[in-house]
Amino acid sequence: MQNYKITLLKGDGIGPEIVNQAVKVLDKAAEKFSFTVEYDEALLGGCAIDATGVPLPEETVAKCKASDSVILGAVGGSKWDNQPGNNRPEAGLLGIRGALGLFANLRPSVIFGPLKSASPIKDEIIGDNMDIMIVRELTGGIYFGERGRDDSSAWDTEKYSVAEVERIARVAFDMAMKRNKKLTSVDKANVLESSRLWRQTVINVSKDYPEVELNHMYVDNCAMQLVRNPKQFDVIVTSNIFGDILSDEASMIAGSIGMLASASLSGGKLGLYEPIHGSAPDIAGKGIANPLATILSVAMMLRYSLAQPEAAQAIEAAVAKVLETSRTPDIYEEGFNKVSCEEMGDLVCAQL
Ligand code: IPM
Ligand code: MG
Repeated sequence: MQNYKITLLKGDGIGPEIVNQAVKVLDKAAEKFSFTVEYDEALLGGCAIDATGVPLPEETVAKCKASDSVILGAVGGSKWDNQPGNNRPEAGLLGIRGALGLFANLRPSVIFGPLKSASPIKDEIIGDNMDIMIVRELTGGIYFGERGRDDSSAWDTEKYSVAEVERIARVAFDMAMKRNKKLTSVDKANVLESSRLWRQTVINVSKDYPEVELNHMYVDNCAMQLVRNPKQFDVIVTSNIFGDILSDEASMIAGSIGMLASASLSGGKLGLYEPIHGSAPDIAGKGIANPLATILSVAMMLRYSLAQPEAAQAIEAAVAKVLETSRTPDIYEEGFNKVSCEEMGDLVCAQL
């Protein structure tokens, strides 16, 4: 029987609650699809600062590297706001992305039929099956560029190499080939030199993908087009910071940021899977967080890292079914059962 070693980085705030539900669902999927999962936990973010003084202890990197994949909850909270920038919980998150070489971040924005009414966008604009895949570059750009501060100024640097753009472009073109063969590359080439290099490099890579229809869009226009006509998009490829911003926007079109999963991939089998939302300290410990984004991240892990596509699909189908009757408070509408984080996990397991 196939056995997988999974490292859990529960993190801060609602992180532990949502990861616990995701583990429950993964165990259920393992039982049903005849594989086994062995878990190990490691510290990342604020909890790691409290225990060890740093947001990313070396032991955490080693455990992640020794596993088949990693599930992450969320990190951060106001408790650590007075930490210096390079010792904040978020620095731990960036550190683990860098240490594991997770340059490709896949952020699907899909609307689940029963959730259409939770979207702030009109029905006719969303259409019946909004399904956008944002491919965000995750280990370069302004997040990792040189930064500094002196008495009267501060700076961060957006820098991309041709090789960095090429490898993320290839991930996006490959993804487009598996979908509707349509790719939008988002940049700010009317202003930024790094964007001009980005655009030229994407055009060069496109020669290897003659079947993919490629277009380019400035990021400000893309932010507007996403709410004006999201149906025009299939795969979007963009830089680290633009992808951060656009994926939050796209998630809301799909109803709630509490619903969206993500996969961070390195080119090898090992991936890191996390919801795109944050640690929501305001609702931590209340049992009302929506665990579905983390549960759907487990589905992505089964698909992209563990080669268990049937199990992935079964989890996604179970989530869609449960949403027909039950909602956590963030996506609650009249006429549905209002359920807690744990109840939501139980319902998905029962449906599986
Ligand atoms: C995300 C988050 C992170 C990011 C933060 C917490 C550092 O917003 O994963 O989108 O900006 O990448
Ligand atoms: Mg973000």
